[in-house]
Amino acid sequence: GDYRGLYRPQVHFSPPRHFMNDPNGLFRDDSDTWHLYYQYNPTGVVAGNQHWGHATSKDLYHWVNQPIALYPPRKDVFVFSGSAVVDRNNTSGFFPNQTNGVVAIYTLAEYDADGNPGPQTQAIAYSHDQGHSFIPYEGNPVIPGDSPQFRDPKVVWHDGHWVMAVAYPHDFAVGIFTSPNLKDWTPTSNFSHHGLLGLQWECPNLVKVPYVNEKGDREDDMWLMVVSINPGAPLGGSVAQYYPGTFNGTHFEAVDSAARIADFGKDSYAGQFFYGSPEDELPVLVSWASNWQYTQTVPTGAEGWRSAMSLPRRTYLSKSARVGWKLVSLPYDMEPVMGDRLASNDSIANGTITVDFSDVPSNALYWELNVTGLPSSGISASATMNFTFSSPVTGEYLRGGMFLGGDAPFFLDRGGVRGFDDVFFTDKASTNSVIVGASWNMSGVIDRSVLELFVNGGLDSATTTFFPTQPLTLAVFSTADLPDGARVSLRVNGLRSAW
Ligand code: FRU
Repeated sequence: GDYRGLYRPQVHFSPPRHFMNDPNGLFRDDSDTWHLYYQYNPTGVVAGNQHWGHATSKDLYHWVNQPIALYPPRKDVFVFSGSAVVDRNNTSGFFPNQTNGVVAIYTLAEYDADGNPGPQTQAIAYSHDQGHSFIPYEGNPVIPGDSPQFRDPKVVWHDGHWVMAVAYPHDFAVGIFTSPNLKDWTPTSNFSHHGLLGLQWECPNLVKVPYVNEKGDREDDMWLMVVSINPGAPLGGSVAQYYPGTFNGTHFEAVDSAARIADFGKDSYAGQFFYGSPEDELPVLVSWASNWQYTQTVPTGAEGWRSAMSLPRRTYLSKSARVGWKLVSLPYDMEPVMGDRLASNDSIANGTITVDFSDVPSNALYWELNVTGLPSSGISASATMNFTFSSPVTGEYLRGGMFLGGDAPFFLDRGGVRGFDDVFFTDKASTNSVIVGASWNMSGVIDRSVLELFVNGGLDSATTTFFPTQPLTLAVFSTADLPDGARVSLRVNGLRSAW
């Protein structure tokens, strides 16, 4: 692949060429290598002909593209989304002589001669070489059926057995199955009709996650159900929602029936948690940084590829009196790609900082803005903190910012960028980032055609793609009408290309 194009992200994963969608089979192997598989059409820049592409990384930023890991078994059957596990105890019987055998669990999607969807069934394949090559199980499918709407199995190990979450998209339901050996599966319960329905539920995850309470203390772990909806997102197209809850080994119970959106941008879908993150680290989530509404027409197609993954994000659940449950996410340690400090200022008070980053070869930046000394009330509605990235050549811009007063609305606007004219590529997104206490912060990464924002310590986050006609190389950070005593510090670093 050629990773030099105007739109090619430099610290995000994108496929060498052709079309990518969902992350699949995320796992960490015995030699601390992270594996990313993905829905891949190796013959086109639009969706279809689904294989599992593959890449590996030691740090989640520097990826090595690997040969395709899973191929369609027949011309009219595609390999849809799914997950992977390490079968340490050889429960499957595939690995008599090893403790690092890998099993992929995925959907086989059949089509008839006219291209109409046929049955979707769940299948497995095993790998003796730490996930580089897979042998499909001769007894496939392991969960047969005749429904054309049954897909995206995500498997975890819990309490002496395997647990699968799998979507019944048109029933707005997630089926939970258990198995002793990854081959024989028993349906144990369904989780359905919670939160947003949209038109389909896809790519469920049911995983254990840390829970940090309002005082900042770690409590017993919680379970988290994540469901991706497409179409039917509030902003249009695809979106992911989540439910904190409890799981007794067979049934998941959500804390309530509310819909909580995982990312307030428009380009975050089909997120999946890695299997086998180190026990002492937070779970790592990667999402597809695109939206089915327009993903097949974005202008990166002219560079021969389409779609990037989100940054790897460390996640946990938090709960507070004012905003209730939140899935918090922040980028995984960016040290491996962190470049030179371009600006640093511990008191920009009411003012503006301009950073020309046209000399940063990656054209990618990290920034972090911290506010301290906020009063508990009386913040003026005009108190703001804004950022703008623009092209000095065309004047195109991408911007966002926070109004500190009232309910603290935060906005993001890609409407000033002109490289992609599509009726569904809508411009604006917002959230309300309630300020509790005397401080508040945001951080973000801009990476050629992907922007990720982390607001209020990652309590809210947004992923947005953008396609300028010229690179955005000028950053402006500004504050205005801050309350007396407030201090704003800013740090901006270039990022080093991982490609
Ligand atoms: C979600 C999805 C999955 C399916 C895959 C096919 O984006 O529709 O439900 O397995 O993409 O590529």
